[in-house]
Amino acid sequence: MPLIPMRVLLDHAAEHGYGLAAFNVNNMEQIQAIMAAAENTNSPVIIQASRGARSYSQDAYLRHLMLAAAELYPKIPIAMHLDHGNSVATCISAIDQKFTSCMMDGSLQEDGKTPSSYEYNVSVTREVVEYAHRRGVTVEGEIGCLGGIEDDHGAGLSEAEVQAHLTDPGQAEQFVADTGVDALAVAIGTSHGAYKFKKKPTSEVLKMDIIAEIHRRLPNTHLVMHGSSSVPGELVDLINDYGGDIPETYGVPIEEIQEGIKHGVRKVNIDTDNRLAITGAIRKVFKEKPSVFDPRSYLKPAREAMQRLCEERMIALGQAGNADEVPILTLEDLAKRYEAEVR
Ligand code: G3H
Ligand code: 13P
Ligand code: ZN
Repeated sequence: MPLIPMRVLLDHAAEHGYGLAAFNVNNMEQIQAIMAAAENTNSPVIIQASRGARSYSQDAYLRHLMLAAAELYPKIPIAMHLDHGNSVATCISAIDQKFTSCMMDGSLQEDGKTPSSYEYNVSVTREVVEYAHRRGVTVEGEIGCLGGIEDDHGAGLSEAEVQAHLTDPGQAEQFVADTGVDALAVAIGTSHGAYKFKKKPTSEVLKMDIIAEIHRRLPNTHLVMHGSSSVPGELVDLINDYGGDIPETYGVPIEEIQEGIKHGVRKVNIDTDNRLAITGAIRKVFKEKPSVFDPRSYLKPAREAMQRLCEERMIALGQAGNADEVPILTLEDLAKRYEAEVR
């Protein structure tokens, strides 16, 4: 089956009340881990690549790896998404490289660091929606800013500063009306990376009530939770047991993600948990078998560790069991649907 627009997966998830993990990838092993997990759990899949991932892996490698995934797993619907596009040009280049979905993150200026104005955000997002929808490609926008910084992307807000950049539900409603996005990323107190919270988050710092209010105002918009790694203590311990140095830290509890799914969250971005799983597995091999030097001896356990994590998340979010239920609509089908909506 061809790579399909993310909107098709989100619509099915909304209709049936489940969420979809969107896993970040940079290489073949990560794509293999996600696809094996999807096959084992009969899950539809969102695979996403950031700007950093695109420059690390190069678009042509990435595109062909994704096409290989589609060829090897013809029964699994797969959407290929650009994570945190920083400009109209970045989104257009991803669409031209066969991504079936893109995020225009106009919550930050083109530098990917400085919080932007509402007007700037609307103008760049609207432009991407016009280009993308003509081609059937899905668009995710963002309103409000997350904390943390990943590979040079992010405003670098601290846990306290994040609270001043939470999504305003009224502005979210206006933003969707002004831009026509398919999906909306919201800021509810989380951050990218491993260092989200210094203790298990309470409702004071992780504002699930904002999601409920946005969903009440925008029942037909698919909500997206970024920074949704749970940062499992056992993975942090594994890394530290085998020579790593990660201070005590907390992520987003799975129960909170499940609560979000009850209130319209359909896409849940997860990168850090897989990074931790991979690093723990590789460190273990290096420590226990210092004489090995065949990359397969550590990449295989790393891939297996990521697969286990993806399977756990696919089951917890409810996407498991749905791969063969999703109606298969193409980019052309969606382009026609958007055109009919405009008329
Ligand atoms: O948004 C952040 C994702 O975890 C991607 O991170 O920009 O380091 O590839 P990256
Ligand atoms: P984590 O760092 O929590 O995995 O978040 C990833 C993310 O939001 C990618 O856009
Ligand atoms: Zn993100």
